[in-house]
Amino acid sequence: MNRKKITIQYLQNKKEKKQPITMLTAYDYSSAMLVDRAEIDMILVGDSLGMVMMGLDSTVPVTMDEMIHHCKAVARGAQYAFMVGDMPFMSYQADIAEAVRNAGRFLKEAGMDAVKLEGGSEVTDTVKAIVRAGIPVMGHIGLTPQSISKLGGYRVQGKTAESALRLLQDALALEAAGCFSIVLEAVPAPVATEISRHLRIPTIGIGAGAGCDGQVLVYHDLLGLFDRLSPRFVKQYANLSKIITEALTAYRQDVETGQFPAEEHTYPIDENELATFQAAVQKSFS
Ligand code: KIV
Repeated sequence: MNRKKITIQYLQNKKEKKQPITMLTAYDYSSAMLVDRAEIDMILVGDSLGMVMMGLDSTVPVTMDEMIHHCKAVARGAQYAFMVGDMPFMSYQADIAEAVRNAGRFLKEAGMDAVKLEGGSEVTDTVKAIVRAGIPVMGHIGLTPQSISKLGGYRVQGKTAESALRLLQDALALEAAGCFSIVLEAVPAPVATEISRHLRIPTIGIGAGAGCDGQVLVYHDLLGLFDRLSPRFVKQYANLSKIITEALTAYRQDVETGQFPAEEHTYPIDENELATFQAAVQKSFS
C-alpha cells in the first residue's frame, strides 16, 4: 500500500465516514517506530511520560524541555502518524503569549504536527491565539490529569446531568475556538457519545466508550509495561513486563554461568595478526 502522512483532513474524513481513528502515546524513537509500523493514525507524546518514563507521581512536574526532548525522539521515529505534543502544566495557563511561544516550540524545535492542552471554556482564548499562530490544537476535557488536585483524584467526570452538560458546552466552546479534535477522558460512555454526535470535529476517547470517533491508550498500559496504575478502561494486549523480566533474568544467568557471550557473539582475528600481536605483547612484558 502507498502510505501517506496522516493529515487533519484525513482524520476529519474518517469521522465523516464513521471510520474509527486510532491513537497511541509514544515517548521515544523506537516506540514511535513501532506505533508507526502498526499504522496507528496519531501519536500523542503525552505528558503521561512523567509517570511512565520518569517515575513521577503525577504529570504536574513535567517541564517544557522534557516534553521537547521526548517529542524530538518521537518525530525521528514516526514517518506517517499525525504527531501531537502535549503542553505540560503551566506552559499555557499563565499567559497567552507564553502559551503561543511554547506551542510553537513543539512544531519548530520538536517536529510535532499539533499540540494538545487540557481544559474547557477557560482555555478558549489561549486555543484561539495558538490556532491563529498556525498551530493546530487538540483539546482535552473530562478527567484532566494536570488538574488532579482540583478534581480531587483520578475520577470519572460528567456523572451528573449538570456536569455532563458542562462537558458538552466545553466541547462546543473548544470546537468554536478552533480545535481540530478533542480528547474525552474518563467520561461515561453515553455522555461521550452525545458529545461526539454534536461536534463536527473528531473526539478521541480514553475511558469514554465506543461512541467516540477514535480511541487513545497509553503505550505502556496497552503493552503491560507499567503496572503502578491499572485504570478500568485499559485493555492490555500483551504482558511485556513479564516477557522482559524473563529475558533480563536469562541474560543475567547466562553471564553468571559463562554461557554468554559464546563464540558466535565474538569477532575473529586473522591467525597471523594474532600471533604477531601475542609475540609483541610477550616482548614488551618480559
Ligand atoms: O498524557 C497523556 O498520555 C494523555 C492521554 C491519556 C490522553 O493525555
